[in-house]
Amino acid sequence: MNFEKSNQWRIKAKNLIPGGGHTYSKGDDQFPALSPFAIQKGLGARVWDIDGNEFVDWGMGLGSVLLGHAFPPVVEVVQQELQNGCNFIRPSFIEAEVAELLANTIPCAEMVKFAKNGSNATSAAVKLARAYTGKEVILRCKDHAFFSIDDWFMGNTAVNAGIPKSVQVLTDSFGYNDPQSLIEKINYHQNNVACVILEPAATCEPQDNFLQKVREICTQYGIVLIFDEVVSGFRFHPKGAQYLYGVTPDLASFGKAMANGFSISALTGKKEIMERGGIDHPYERVFLLSTTYGGETHHLRAAQKTLQLLLQDDYAITKHIWQTGKTIKEAYNQIARELGISDFTKAEGIDCRPYFSFTNTLGEQDPFLRTLFMQEMIKSGVLLQVIIPSYSHRDSEISQTIEGFEKSLKVIAQAIEKGNTKELLVGNETKPVFRKYN
Ligand SMILES: Cc1ncc(COP(=O)(O)O)c(C=O)c1O
Repeated sequence: MNFEKSNQWRIKAKNLIPGGGHTYSKGDDQFPALSPFAIQKGLGARVWDIDGNEFVDWGMGLGSVLLGHAFPPVVEVVQQELQNGCNFIRPSFIEAEVAELLANTIPCAEMVKFAKNGSNATSAAVKLARAYTGKEVILRCKDHAFFSIDDWFMGNTAVNAGIPKSVQVLTDSFGYNDPQSLIEKINYHQNNVACVILEPAATCEPQDNFLQKVREICTQYGIVLIFDEVVSGFRFHPKGAQYLYGVTPDLASFGKAMANGFSISALTGKKEIMERGGIDHPYERVFLLSTTYGGETHHLRAAQKTLQLLLQDDYAITKHIWQTGKTIKEAYNQIARELGISDFTKAEGIDCRPYFSFTNTLGEQDPFLRTLFMQEMIKSGVLLQVIIPSYSHRDSEISQTIEGFEKSLKVIAQAIEKGNTKELLVGNETKPVFRKYN
């Protein structure tokens, strides 16, 4: 594969843009050296880079493209709406129209506020919770990778440069599927806890009624329960993972898959809390998500169309997404077993969003093996970090991916057997996004 133009573009982009792009997880440190840097276009479940190489895409715009790149029914409504202009002096009628659709769909959504990014929506939820409870501490799930670019969250990670200590100490963490750790932290902070925030499920599902227990604990202590559904929303179920697992939070944030890649997010929740951000109550005002682009009409139309499609045909799209992930997981694990390397690598996680684990002979995570696998998959025309299925991943993408697994896992088996991973890998291993130094 030829990456000549990509390699030139990399230099230019890194000179002009810190990190070379606009999302850390798309960065050079997240991919092997032998990979495309710059994408030119996408269609369905495939993308083409600027050298003209074609790939099956398992990244799908960081999970935002649920239906497929340039999915015609969504593109059509966006194009149509753009004929009418996209931003006006007062709210467009479409804002309340789409808010009503969400309110009728998502269990906790008595009110809805739109924004552009998941971070904006989760940070707004946290602010609202603090204003509503008059408390300060935020308890976030430590097993969930990311909630927001904002200080309340980043201050509680390794990448906390530029964030005052006084802000850092106000966020603490608890474990997923570990209700006792939550109670301990609430007691430690002497019930100065404004909110508990977690994804309903991320890398594993809730065990032993965990979410119900968290709900009960929050109610008991007067703490606002926030579900970050930026990833799970619309992917796990059109009505949200809160519907799937039968637990209703006080507030929930949505983003990513909600508009098939167009930029829109939503804060949803109980009226009693949400209306603190309004202009018709007697309490102290909360300046909640006031953005120039929050009501951009064509993005709202994209969200409306995406959700309408998800809700039709007995949730056929959702079923396809879960089945696709399951097929990929099973195929991977079967091949790994046949090659005798299933102690070192597995496809794991929830079927609608599987991931791969790689461990060395000491049982430690092995970033070199992971990167080598990604490198070899790219040679088979498959671009992946984890598996993010979309409605456009069909037989041809699945079989090309499984053929890629067969070839790549042979190389992985050889690397494990001969202990020569680093020799087979061109360039550096991938690195965690949340690290203190480069
Ligand atoms: C669980 C979760 N919450 C929030 C965010 C932030 O969303 P955005 O990048 O749209 O700001 C992300 C982004 O990856 C996420 O994975």
